[in-house]
Amino acid sequence: MELFGLQGKTAAVTGAARGIGKATSDLLEKAGARVFRIDLDEGIRCDVADETQVEKAFGETGPVDILVNNAGIAVRKNAFELSAAAWDRVIGVNVRGVFLCSRIAARGMKEKGGGAIVNLASIMGFSGGLFPNPAYQASKGAVVNLTRALALEFAEHGIRVNAVAPTFVRTDLTTPIFANPSVLEKVMQHTPLGVLPEVDDIAAAILFLAGPAARCITGVTLPVDSGYLAR
Ligand code: NAI
Repeated sequence: MELFGLQGKTAAVTGAARGIGKATSDLLEKAGARVFRIDLDEGIRCDVADETQVEKAFGETGPVDILVNNAGIAVRKNAFELSAAAWDRVIGVNVRGVFLCSRIAARGMKEKGGGAIVNLASIMGFSGGLFPNPAYQASKGAVVNLTRALALEFAEHGIRVNAVAPTFVRTDLTTPIFANPSVLEKVMQHTPLGVLPEVDDIAAAILFLAGPAARCITGVTLPVDSGYLAR
């Protein structure tokens, strides 16, 4: 079971105040890690899209062994209605934020001789989706390929970079989807297993990718999608 433990490790989780980030922080702690919770709203306060704030936050954590790039947002508007500012904010948090946090954490991991980064992609990184949400789909597609690019770049330093790609999970982010019966019905039509993951199911996949059981896995995005992408 040591393969799934994180004894003696330190981790930083972004977007840790709620939802998947909170569940992941709790699970990494249960697995033995010391977890620094970074969020706009509580813990170490930081907007991951802001380079100065990211530098300050990671100055507080010091070098970490594990980074979970979980902070993410959606502005669900179609291409005709989405403002350029909203596009920039979604890409700013979901892509720039992953880039900024990854490179600063990787500097510390290099010093430590290795580490693991796990990004939150989405099934929407592999699919045009069930309804118009272009900025989000673009951002998560970028996360999938940034995961590969950073995995290759950081491999020589013993740093693994992977991602998880959840299907719809009930959190604050998806309240409007779960509150709309016709959208939810469409989601379930694309859920071969007939059951959607909970936040703890996503956290479990992140723990696996962050820990020693995955020591030879890098550059992959693991769907936790109840079969959505298998079709
Ligand atoms: P959530 O909305 O419940 O929680 C997101 C957390 O991130 C909040 O605590 C928020 O304050 C924080 N945050 C937002 N912008 C931030 C910023 N600029 N800097 C720092 N913190 C910030 O979201 P949820 O559902 O837990 O999502 C977490 C990640 O999982 C996101 O990247 C999301 O795109 C991804 N994901 C979620 C799915 C879902 O169905 N819930 C499906 C696929 C991916």
